[in-house]
Amino acid sequence: MNIDKIVLPEYPVFLAPMEDVTDPSFRHICKHFGADMMYTEFVASEALIRDVKKTFKKLEVSDYERPIGIQLYGHNIDAMVDAAKIATEANPDLIDINYGCPVKKIATRGAGAGMLRDIPKMIKMTEEIVKATNLPVTVKTRLGWDSDELIIEDIAERLQDTGIKALTIHGRTRAQMYKGIADWTLIGKVKNNQRIKIPIIGNGDIDSPQKAKEAFDKYGVDGIMVGRATYGRPYIFKEIKYFLEHGEEMRPLTLKEKVELAKMHFTKSIEYKGERRGVYEMRRHLVSYFKGIPNFKEMRLKLVTTNEPEKVIELIDFILKNYNN
Ligand SMILES: Cc1cc2nc3c(=O)[nH]c(=O)nc-3n(C[C@H](O)[C@H](O)[C@H](O)COP(=O)(O)O)c2cc1C
Repeated sequence: MNIDKIVLPEYPVFLAPMEDVTDPSFRHICKHFGADMMYTEFVASEALIRDVKKTFKKLEVSDYERPIGIQLYGHNIDAMVDAAKIATEANPDLIDINYGCPVKKIATRGAGAGMLRDIPKMIKMTEEIVKATNLPVTVKTRLGWDSDELIIEDIAERLQDTGIKALTIHGRTRAQMYKGIADWTLIGKVKNNQRIKIPIIGNGDIDSPQKAKEAFDKYGVDGIMVGRATYGRPYIFKEIKYFLEHGEEMRPLTLKEKVELAKMHFTKSIEYKGERRGVYEMRRHLVSYFKGIPNFKEMRLKLVTTNEPEKVIELIDFILKNYNN
C-alpha cells in the first residue's frame, strides 16, 4: 500500500498519534518494533503560528522515524493553512489533519471532531491545506458526531475529492469519546465503496494480532492503526507482523528483552527531554513494561519515586537479576 509516493508494505501497521504518548522517544521504540508509519502528537495550529516554543518542538522529526506525518488541528482555516506551511518546513513525509479529537475544549470550539458538524468548512479547510503544501495531505476522523449523524461514507468521498492521499477512520462517533466498542462495519463500507480510491486506514480497539488480522481480512482496509494497545507493549507491531506472516503467535518477550526495551526507551526519553522530565515521563511506561510481575509492589514504588537516571537504570538491572524466574 502506498500513500502518494510513500511506499509501505502490503499490510502496514500504523502507530496512532497520541497526545502525551507518541513523543520522539516512544516513536523510536515503536519504530524499532516495526511500526510502518507514525505521526507526531497533534499540533495546535494557533499555537504554531504564534510561535509557541513547546508547540514548535513537536514538529521535530528524525530520519529514523520516516515515514512520519505531522498532525495539525484547529478551527480557523487561515491558521491551519499557515500552520501547514510551517509544518512543511519541518520536512515530514506528510501532513495529517485531525478531524477526530473528541475532547470538549477542542471539539466544542469547532476543531478536531467539532469539524464533523460543519462539513462545508471541513471540505474548504482541507482543500486549502492541500493547496498550501507540496506534501501529501491525509485526514484522520471519526464515523460522525453521534449515532444520528453517521456521515463518514458521504464525507469520505468529499474528502477524497479535495486531493487528500489517505483517510484514517476511528470507528467511533465523537459522542462515544473512547467508550463502547469501535464499529468496523462502517469503516469496511467506506473501504468497499467503489468510488473510494485512496487508501483507508482502520482504527479502533486493535489490541491483539488476531484483531489486526481480522481488520485486514474482514474489512479489507489498506492499513491498520494501533493506539492504546501500544502502552507498555510497543512490541505489538512485531507481534502483529509475526502473526500475519506465520499464522501463529510470537513467543512472549523475555524479562531480559523487556529490560533492554525499558532501558532503550529510558535513554531516549532523557536524550529528548532532559533528565528531570525524561525521568518523570518515563515512570508510567516503566511501570507498564513490568506489569504482572509477582511481588513487584515495592519495586514499583521505587520506579515511580527515584529521580536520578543512574539509579533508575540500577533498578531496572536489579529487576532482571531478582525477578527472573
Ligand atoms: C491519550 C490519547 C491521546 C490521543 N491523542 C490523539 C492525537 O493527538 N491525535 C489523534 O488523531 N488522535 C489521538 N488519539 C486517538 C487515537 O489516535 C486513536 O484514534 C484512538 O485511541 C483509538 O485507537 P485505539 O483503540 O487503538 O487506541 C488519542 C488517544 C489517546 C488515548
